Amino acid sequence: MRKIVFILFTIFSFIACKEVNNKKPMIEKKPFGITKDGIPVEEYILKNSSEMSVQIITYGGIITAIKVPDRDGKVLDVTLGFETLSEYEKSSPYFGALIGRYGNRIAKGKFSLDGIEYNLVQNNDENHLHGGTKGFDKVVWTAEPLILSNAAQLKLLYQSKDMEEGYPGNLDVEVIYRLTNDNSIEIEYKAVTDKKTVLNLTQHTYFNLSGDKDILDHKLMLNADKYLPVDESLIPLGELTSVAESPFDFKKSKTIGKDIENNHIQLERGGGYDHCWVLNDQNIGLRTAAILFDPASGRQMEVLTNEPGIQFYSGNFLDGTLPMKNSDLFYENRSGLCLETQHYPNSPNEPSFPTVELNPGENFSSKTIFKFSNRPLE
Ligand code: GLA
Repeated sequence: MRKIVFILFTIFSFIACKEVNNKKPMIEKKPFGITKDGIPVEEYILKNSSEMSVQIITYGGIITAIKVPDRDGKVLDVTLGFETLSEYEKSSPYFGALIGRYGNRIAKGKFSLDGIEYNLVQNNDENHLHGGTKGFDKVVWTAEPLILSNAAQLKLLYQSKDMEEGYPGNLDVEVIYRLTNDNSIEIEYKAVTDKKTVLNLTQHTYFNLSGDKDILDHKLMLNADKYLPVDESLIPLGELTSVAESPFDFKKSKTIGKDIENNHIQLERGGGYDHCWVLNDQNIGLRTAAILFDPASGRQMEVLTNEPGIQFYSGNFLDGTLPMKNSDLFYENRSGLCLETQHYPNSPNEPSFPTVELNPGENFSSKTIFKFSNRPLE
């Protein structure tokens, strides 16, 4: 009898195990609303073969949710965002969005190419921020879903017209989000232009790996010996400054709240961390830029990129007025942080910074990976 029970147990365990391992990547599509201009918006839910999923809408290429398990298997949405399209249209601080034509700031909204001066909207005090009044975060992208053997993929396409938001050149942009079975979100950016222009694309998801009220107990490592100090309007001064013996040193994993209230002119100007770090190993292509870890849940997110910089923004402008999704609460100060891989802010006006110019005949490409995993209790 015992032998029969053991055999039956083994068979059922094998079947159960096959069931779980047989889960294949999949993509669901749902309507997400109509923009105020009357354009339909869809939401795509990408699922991999384990317990992770990513939700993306065609408005702004916005990631509306990333659901990942903790060390005990408890799945949580680790992003900030809204429940409705109108909230994203009305009052979003770029929650989850694709950012362009130029992510981050351009001083006074001005730059020149081949002796021609271009004037962009000054939508952030005296500066231009995140592509202007209607940047890539506020346009509707065309979506092409695709299931691969080891990933679920969503390609987003957008044609930015010549002089849209004041930028020269007709620019064809393609962004691929790929959720792989090893719990990575790969983001691949490509673009071509018919006239010399400037380009700096990034992704603006706000992360909170614990779901707690703020991110100050998260630990962060930034693979950077230097950072870009800024002026009062958050435009880099132009120098690359060592992080050594300063609150900006994250070369070893450090709790974000440890130094954030230090009496340092750069923390005063940013209202916390809101700076671009100069990543090490700039010539080896894709490498680790950051590791974000939540000791309470064990969730970890590694950021890899081939970009020269990463903007670490500690959610300093969140002020408790924006409604939290799936809750009656509101997003408090520093309840989420951004790790925006990018070229440096104001590069069009800083010849010493890596160029952000794109010429006809050139193929722009950039890659960033958000790789999720869990660590045991330390
Ligand atoms: C970027 C900027 C911040 C802030 C956010 C959006 O992270 O660096 O200063 O403007 O975008 O709120």
